[in-house]
Amino acid sequence: MSKLALFGGEPLFKKERPLEDRWPETLPEDLEAINRVIESGQFLGINHPEIEAAEKEISEYFDVDYVLLMGSGTASLHAAVAAAGCVPGDEVIVPALTFLASASAVLHHVCIPVFADIDPVTYNLDPKSVETKITNRTRAIMAVDLHGLPANYEALRKIAEKYNLVLIEDAAHAMGATYQGKKAGALGDVAGTSLMPVKQLATCGEGGIFFTNNVDFYNRASMVRSFGEVIQKDKPRAYNAFTLGWNYRINPIMAAFLRTQLKRLDHYTNLFISNGTYLSKGLSELPGVIPPYVPEGSTHVYHMYRIKFDPKAAGYDVHPGRFAKAVEEAMGAEGLPLRLYQNAPIPGQAMFRTKEGFGNGVPWSLPGTNPIKYDFEEYTNTLEVLETTRCIGKNGSAGPWYFRNRETMDLYLNGFRKVWENLDEVVDYAEKMEYSPPWSILAPSTRGVWVEVTPTKKG
Ligand SMILES: Cc1ncc(COP(=O)(O)O)c(C=O)c1O
Repeated sequence: MSKLALFGGEPLFKKERPLEDRWPETLPEDLEAINRVIESGQFLGINHPEIEAAEKEISEYFDVDYVLLMGSGTASLHAAVAAAGCVPGDEVIVPALTFLASASAVLHHVCIPVFADIDPVTYNLDPKSVETKITNRTRAIMAVDLHGLPANYEALRKIAEKYNLVLIEDAAHAMGATYQGKKAGALGDVAGTSLMPVKQLATCGEGGIFFTNNVDFYNRASMVRSFGEVIQKDKPRAYNAFTLGWNYRINPIMAAFLRTQLKRLDHYTNLFISNGTYLSKGLSELPGVIPPYVPEGSTHVYHMYRIKFDPKAAGYDVHPGRFAKAVEEAMGAEGLPLRLYQNAPIPGQAMFRTKEGFGNGVPWSLPGTNPIKYDFEEYTNTLEVLETTRCIGKNGSAGPWYFRNRETMDLYLNGFRKVWENLDEVVDYAEKMEYSPPWSILAPSTRGVWVEVTPTKKG
């Protein structure tokens, strides 16, 4: 039995690679794609041949009729909220565990995010909780394919049909994943995804994709993308805005780079799935280590690999939050980082607690809106998951470069085996350590509090 690095032993892993591998992978064909745009001298983000070609290829790959490349994932989700016909004061149901942007896309359209709890096993939106949140102002449900596992669309679609709601898919974590044979991005009535450089399908900067099979949704989103205007190829610009639009256009360099990445998405996805499955198989041999659950009919692409720790199953009567924190520290000391992904249910963030939004309480103060109270402690499944789980990786970094390499899987497996061989000591440490739950990091109500910034101008 070797001594844990946390207690003065030799760390298992001291190098940078493969944990610090780069992503997205750049091959000569990606550089050629970038050069193609630069050499063409055309940089406009609309009706550009690279953007049109990329949209066509994406539409074919995902089997979705209409596709728009956008400037970011948040922009694509905002366009999805607009396309869904949401108007100011409408409510959109969003999971309490996601990245903030799922909810801020709703706010960007002056609509109100209403949070539902997650399923404690899949970590995705719990359909039962969704149903309890429906009101006379609910217009849409935003399902997030969290961590790379598609949400429960069968149950969510039934609810959407029953209450005449639009089903929006946030597929930002799940490019390459499938649900009952269909690809993530094609699972909602309308969907958005992110292409920023930590995502499964990434470009060399910021970008997003809007997807739909509904021509009306497409037309609306297309106006949202470009100043509210209808841009028709080969026709003079009418300079006539039909609705409020933004500049949500993508840079053609991002589109060209994306085209070569898309060609390799299947290759990467196969690696992520086979390495993630391998890791899960190894980890399930350790008592009290619960790898991500993959329901039948779905594939998980492990954008985030969230592990649940159950001390009881490991034979210890210790607080589960303390246990998870001690395991995180022991693994970190071995050079194999684990991290929290989100510290609190999204409604615990200061903006919701203070209803800061646009200022003056908007959108929550708009006439005709339902009173909403954001009480993050209501989301008991989310709280329990945050306290008892950790994701593989360092702060700010996510899955793709970890799950590309089998070597990384073996490093983590060996790390967990070493920690599990020393569990008596780890539990002893857990019982004595200072402890507060992850959400205690949230500052109390912070309306009007700004952090100090350094001026851009020097001197
Ligand atoms: C679940 C989720 N939704 C939306 C977004 C927003 O994407 P972007 O950063 O490209 O605006 C992100 C990511 O960053 C995300 O993780």
